[in-house]
Amino acid sequence: MFNKRVKIKDLLLTEPIGQEAVVMGWVRTFRNNQFIALNDGSTNSNLQIVVELGKYDETFLKRITTSASLKVVGHVVASMGKGQKLELKASSIEILGDSDAEKYPLQPKKHSLEFLREIAHLRFRTSTFSSVFRIRHSLAFAIHKFYNDKGFVYLHTPIITASDAEGAGEMFKVTTLPFDQTPRKEDGTVDFNEDFFGRATNLTVSGQLEGELAATALSEIYTFGPTFRAENSNTARHLAEFWMIEPEMAFYDLEDNMNLAEEFIKYLIRYAMEHNREDLEFLAQRLEEEEKQKPQAERSEMGLIEKLEFVMNNDFERITYTEAIDILLASPAYKKKKFKYDVSWGIDMQSEHERYLVEKHFKKPVIVTGYPKAIKAFYMRQNDDGKTVAAMDILAPGIGEIVGGSQREERMEKLEERMKEMHIPIEEMWWYLDTRRFGTVPHAGFGLGFERMVQFVTGMTNIRDVIAFPRTPKNAEF
Ligand code: 4AD
Ligand code: MG
Repeated sequence: MFNKRVKIKDLLLTEPIGQEAVVMGWVRTFRNNQFIALNDGSTNSNLQIVVELGKYDETFLKRITTSASLKVVGHVVASMGKGQKLELKASSIEILGDSDAEKYPLQPKKHSLEFLREIAHLRFRTSTFSSVFRIRHSLAFAIHKFYNDKGFVYLHTPIITASDAEGAGEMFKVTTLPFDQTPRKEDGTVDFNEDFFGRATNLTVSGQLEGELAATALSEIYTFGPTFRAENSNTARHLAEFWMIEPEMAFYDLEDNMNLAEEFIKYLIRYAMEHNREDLEFLAQRLEEEEKQKPQAERSEMGLIEKLEFVMNNDFERITYTEAIDILLASPAYKKKKFKYDVSWGIDMQSEHERYLVEKHFKKPVIVTGYPKAIKAFYMRQNDDGKTVAAMDILAPGIGEIVGGSQREERMEKLEERMKEMHIPIEEMWWYLDTRRFGTVPHAGFGLGFERMVQFVTGMTNIRDVIAFPRTPKNAEF
């Protein structure tokens, strides 16, 4: 019954005027008992269904409400109306599922994004969210295409791990131990020998360490999977569960790493521009309207499409951390005490600092290298100055940090020394250190936050609006 259905997107594209077609979808609006705007999620463009006057009785017509689902058979005809090239003259309409107009929470009007977050199970039915999720899909597909075309191997790293890759301690525990009768050792600490894995485990914060194991044999790998961070950050760019792409490459130094990351980001933007033009134009329009609500000084200088074209066609700025701090210290914002957090060499830059650099100073994406070792992870390659590491972060306008990466410390003694300093359990990490023990090689990699990338491409200001069911502090609905 269903496989004869044609998708509305294809129908609008191929324009089979005069032919019979079967469509299925959800009603967006129904005007004058005559014109149904039908949407099936393949495109934001609705198909206009023309209902013959007098053919259906009143009770039937009353059931054609917003979000009722229909199967319509009809003839494709050229449209006389404005706004569409063709329409479907219905010969039969079947209601697949009724939708009580009184109870249906989405009305054919503008709803706030905050309200839509509360009904995230239905927000796919809005134009904004169907555009966002089609673009998210496209980007996910493009990621695999980019690395596959380059001969990288897609590696599935574990979701449950015993190590803390970033050493930041922001992990969700994974356990089957009972809360009420937790087994304890003599010293009173929890006895994880009794736990499912016989040891303490948690949800992964990054697949990097396992990625390095594979890269030091397969040369070039990438991961693309969910990662988890129990950081209590209630911001527009943090999720407790987010997706990350982590390429890891043997025989790459920091510069090779930066080149790959820049090429990758530009590729993803170009892919969306070529494959999601209609959705991007819709979102650009919506962003423009949102911008009009803001005071002049806070509005962005470029529209969404313009911004994406600019980023695609210009080199990213490359500066060192030390240069970044100097720019901040010399900035009018610093002198007028506009920053909430203080600036000095050694700070972990706050998002206000990162955004000043990209949005006010350079007005383009910036790659910052050579961070102080004290604020970065143990595995980053130490520079000869004894103070900095071969790290690189990419900062993007409107987002802040979108990529974090580094060249890895491949020298055994240096790595062990740093692990000791940072109290990383060396014995437990024997498997990681084996890569340095047996045929160590210079290597590098980075992590791109997928949702931040989707935010950048779609122009959505809140990260909760680019993942279907966001997980944030005090929120795990749906
Ligand atoms: O900078 P991060 O913590 O780097 C790593 O995890 C490394 N192991 C990556 C690597 O070298 N293989 O995270 C990488 C990126 C960030 O730049 C950011 O885009 C994103 O992941 N990210 C988050 N996105 C959403 N919510 C959060 N809580 C995020 N934390 C990091
Ligand atoms: Mg980072």
